[in-house]
Amino acid sequence: MATMGNSTNIFWHECPVSKVDRQKLLNQQGCIVWITGLSGSGKSTLACSLGRQLHCRGKLSYVLDGDNLRHGLNKNLGFTPEDRTENIRRVGEVAKLFADAGLICIASLISPYRKDRDSCRALLPEKFIEVFLNMPLELCEGRDPKGLYKLARAGKIKGFTGIDDPYETPLNCEIEIRQEDGNCPTPNEMAGQVVSYLEDKGYLEA
Ligand SMILES: Nc1ncnc2c1ncn2[C@@H]1O[C@H](COP(=O)(O)OP(=O)(O)OP(=O)(O)O)[C@@H](O)[C@H]1O
Ligand SMILES: [Mg+2]
Repeated sequence: MATMGNSTNIFWHECPVSKVDRQKLLNQQGCIVWITGLSGSGKSTLACSLGRQLHCRGKLSYVLDGDNLRHGLNKNLGFTPEDRTENIRRVGEVAKLFADAGLICIASLISPYRKDRDSCRALLPEKFIEVFLNMPLELCEGRDPKGLYKLARAGKIKGFTGIDDPYETPLNCEIEIRQEDGNCPTPNEMAGQVVSYLEDKGYLEA
């Protein structure tokens, strides 16, 4: 019997089919690929491209995209530091469940605060792959597909990451994706970099 947060008198119910059983079924290792970076750095693009490449190889993945989750699970949260922290905490917990289900869970969120990302890492430390999309602010702002940087510069959005709210760069990421000679790798190349890592570390077999 245990107390967890505000939940008292709770018991863990063990299920007969284990994570190892599910992984054998899928011939892969459940894990979390956590993509972090500025708005416009290409997180959703990478997540989709990675999901597609894995799918083509017969590997089951699922994308948890920050914007999409704010349409449902996290729609009651705003962008205050407290709400951003709760947003990331929830996604971390959901990602852990997907990884437990045996899936390669691809989480793509700005996740600007180091302590929030590290809390998610602590949920599944052996199977957490942090991917830092290290694109310069000028590039992201130049892309601005949603027009958000423009609004932030005009003071119409407050607390925008990279403009008037900090982005804390990862110190211990597993994968860093950056420009080479001033050129951004293509979405396929970015995804390929992650797939190679997953393959090398044995995630694509059980
Ligand atoms: N590798 C790339 N090469 C060229 N253009 C790219 C690349 N990756 C993303 N883009 C383009 O940059 C823009 C921003 O990409 P995307 O929407 O994936 O960013 P994001 O990090 O998910 O942003 P947000 O945090 O606002 O959701 C899009 O128009 C996308 O087509
Ligand atoms: Mg996105």
